[in-house]
Amino acid sequence: QISEAEVALFSVSSYACQRRTTLDNHNSNLTDALSLLAENAELNNEDGRGVAFRRAAALMKALPTQVISMSQLRGLPCLGEHSLRVIKDVLENGVSSEVESTKQSKRYKALKILTGIFGVGAKTADRWIREGIYNLEQLRDSGQTLNRAQKSGLEHYDDLNEPVTKAEADAIGEIVQKAVDSVLTGSQVALTGGFRRGKLTGHDVDFLITHPEEGKEVGLMPKVVAWLESQGFLLYQKTTRNSYLESKDGPARPASNMDRFERCFSIFKLTKGKEQETASHKIWRAVRVDLVVSPISQFAFAVLGWTGSKLFERELRRWAGHEKNMSLSSHALFDNTQNKYLRATSEEEIFAYLGLEYIPPSERNA
Ligand code: GTP
Ligand code: MN
Ligand code: MN
Repeated sequence: QISEAEVALFSVSSYACQRRTTLDNHNSNLTDALSLLAENAELNNEDGRGVAFRRAAALMKALPTQVISMSQLRGLPCLGEHSLRVIKDVLENGVSSEVESTKQSKRYKALKILTGIFGVGAKTADRWIREGIYNLEQLRDSGQTLNRAQKSGLEHYDDLNEPVTKAEADAIGEIVQKAVDSVLTGSQVALTGGFRRGKLTGHDVDFLITHPEEGKEVGLMPKVVAWLESQGFLLYQKTTRNSYLESKDGPARPASNMDRFERCFSIFKLTKGKEQETASHKIWRAVRVDLVVSPISQFAFAVLGWTGSKLFERELRRWAGHEKNMSLSSHALFDNTQNKYLRATSEEEIFAYLGLEYIPPSERNA
């Protein structure tokens, strides 16, 4: 039985960026349920509901011990009526009936399978489902026109749905480092995304590339991609100018040099080590890799913005806007009160500008 004194122990800040969230999750039974409902909401383009479940899941991830009774949750932020109902169900019955029925629904299963194809989002999957396409076989038989990304995604479906290990991420890191060294001496590569947060596996590998001399990074991405292509490392690549300015929630209007900020979505062909060779005798596997080039002046913001987690990033921007009257992006921090950009060369400085205690990457797993 839990005493009132123990109940009072949970004191949790309401923004995820004020909390230290490690990978050590004491409530995975609850966070798995809430995350699945968040995912289902996102797959159905119910973004508000998705964020509400994500916030609730993140709150539960930050709790220092396992929750066994609803009374422990009194006074905690981020837990709406719906999330509390799900938590209660799991605590009392071991499972949430809503989660179970979602998992078994034909629509959820189809959305998962179809959006598991690289290049297929919730809207495309929904359109296909309305045309009676629920799985890969039906998709192949349907004669749907696929774009280049989707064709590649379908071709490498199994590999791309197999988690990437840290060892594979490191092997790809070495290739990327070799590529940038070959095309521009002094270039730097930083591992970002989930692996920087200490995750042991990921759905892709994320890298940020820069050069210590401002301006030298211009034109770097096409050269890196050309080198990788010439060495046979790429199964697919699409380089785009960063679309951050056009995105509807992009707050900070960055300096004019932002049009140099480029991103490459790619699929690497990674040769397996002897140990990883499987019964299929395939000696390589496909791995999703994201490459981003940033000028050194924006590097700290880019590292912070690309390290994640997605919810941690969202909460940082919400904190900046709502609590500090500032606009944070992966390019810059703008102070709307002083009407000026705040320069930073480290993540620590950015947290300080925001009036937040510094949270290291390993504690940003919200
Ligand atoms: P897994 O890859 O699933 O292991 O997790 P992850 O945390 O690495 O996720 P992901 O690779 O999707 O994203 C890594 C970080 O990059 C997250 O913080 C995202 O918010 C961020 N990110 C992804 N796409 C964009 C984008 O288009 N613009 C910006 N500015 N950030 C992005
Ligand atoms: Mn990632
Ligand atoms: Mn990524």
